[in-house]
Amino acid sequence: MSKPIKQIHLAAHFPGVNNTTVWSDPASGSHIEFGSFVHFAQTAERGKFDFLFLAEGLRLREQNGLIYDLDVVGRPDTFTVLAALAAVTDRLGLTGTINSTFNEPYEVARQFASLDHLSDGRAAWNVVTSWDAFTGENFRRGGFLAEDQRYERAESFLAAAHTLFDSWHGDEIVADKDRGVFLSDPGAGKFSYRDAHFDIAGQFNVPRSPQGRPVIFQAGDSDHGRDFAARAADAIFSRHGTLEAGQQFYTDVKGRLAKYGRRHDQLLILPAATFVLGDTDAEAAEIAHEVRLAQVSPATAIKFLEQLWNRDLSDHDPDGPLPSVDPVVGENTIARGRASVRMHRDPIAVANEWRAKAEAEKLTTRELIIEVTGRQNFIGSPATVAETINTLVQEDASDGFILVPHVTPSGLDPFVDKVVPLLQERGVFRTDYEGTTLRDHLGLATPH
Ligand SMILES: Cc1cc2nc3c(=O)[nH]c(=O)nc-3n(C[C@H](O)[C@H](O)[C@H](O)COP(=O)(O)O)c2cc1C
Repeated sequence: MSKPIKQIHLAAHFPGVNNTTVWSDPASGSHIEFGSFVHFAQTAERGKFDFLFLAEGLRLREQNGLIYDLDVVGRPDTFTVLAALAAVTDRLGLTGTINSTFNEPYEVARQFASLDHLSDGRAAWNVVTSWDAFTGENFRRGGFLAEDQRYERAESFLAAAHTLFDSWHGDEIVADKDRGVFLSDPGAGKFSYRDAHFDIAGQFNVPRSPQGRPVIFQAGDSDHGRDFAARAADAIFSRHGTLEAGQQFYTDVKGRLAKYGRRHDQLLILPAATFVLGDTDAEAAEIAHEVRLAQVSPATAIKFLEQLWNRDLSDHDPDGPLPSVDPVVGENTIARGRASVRMHRDPIAVANEWRAKAEAEKLTTRELIIEVTGRQNFIGSPATVAETINTLVQEDASDGFILVPHVTPSGLDPFVDKVVPLLQERGVFRTDYEGTTLRDHLGLATPH
């Protein structure tokens, strides 16, 4: 029997503060004005996307004692933005990244349950652990949890939040002409949760929301992170967007589901992906080259280099070879809050990989940095990009993609206008929303 054709899931990551953003593009607008969020969200909804996605960063990152350049554009509060967007959209899911290290379950559960009510069942929570003590200083906590305990707390945090979400069944509020409004079950909302991390009890004050629980996302990449996702998440935001890396990740994570008694279709894999479109493949390749040069200017290339090397390289020539000195191992004092998942584990090994690649491909420092940071996933005419995305999904490299345009807020428009219709023609992407909740769009059951 041939494999059934999969439906593609598409989401839109508000570009905001990330390295792919081309702030110098004349079309680039504000990252904090509401109009930018509205334009972006309404474009995603016009394209029948599953959801909008917001990443999170709780402190302005620094490099060499200065604010890291893109961070100066600001990062407004997730719940405030998503609640406002709920009012100007109807069907689009609203996913917020909220960390489980520096927050408290009662507060976060209340915020997501409220968002789920306000949006009629469109809330999703990307549960991240966050990686640095630098963020923790904002909360007077510093690095209060060792990295390997962060998932332990994340699991407890989520279990506590689920206890709160489930403390109401949804049918306890009764309105009666004679008796007034009352609770059929006076215990509704009562909860108690205790483990090594939390000891909380009380009465939750938000009745059960349309989805019961928000859709749960996870984004960590380690063994711990993958297990956490296999056990507790509905979807993963990953960075493995190519065929081979995607398939490896997909097989690995879906393979972990059975030990938690879960099926393959209960966890969706949605990698981040960038794209560049042109009328023809050749034109797209040309534009992609320009975009990469804009994303990684000579000054940006040096900043990236310093993040890994953990030393001042301001005198280094971006058009020359990589530095011959090795990175400084240990606490990263040059790039605070910027220790990337990719780099911080073993900087010398990464530097050696970069050197080998630069030598083999005869790349200058800037060209190498472009290769390792500024690459686009999908480059081509709309037909080529539609074909590539569909192949990756049908070949189980993913269940869809979270697209990250390089221009805010209009960068998604050409994708929605030109690629989405082609996916719809192929019958692999919805022409209209069938349900009303994000769980409906993602094909996930509503918990009871
Ligand atoms: C694709 C991806 C996206 C992430 N996005 C965020 C984010 O927006 N905010 C945040 O605080 N942490 C984010 N994280 C960090 C994770 O929460 C986690 O702290 C980090 O990856 C270390 O865990 P790991 O070793 O399992 O990867 C992200 C991680 C990955 C892999």
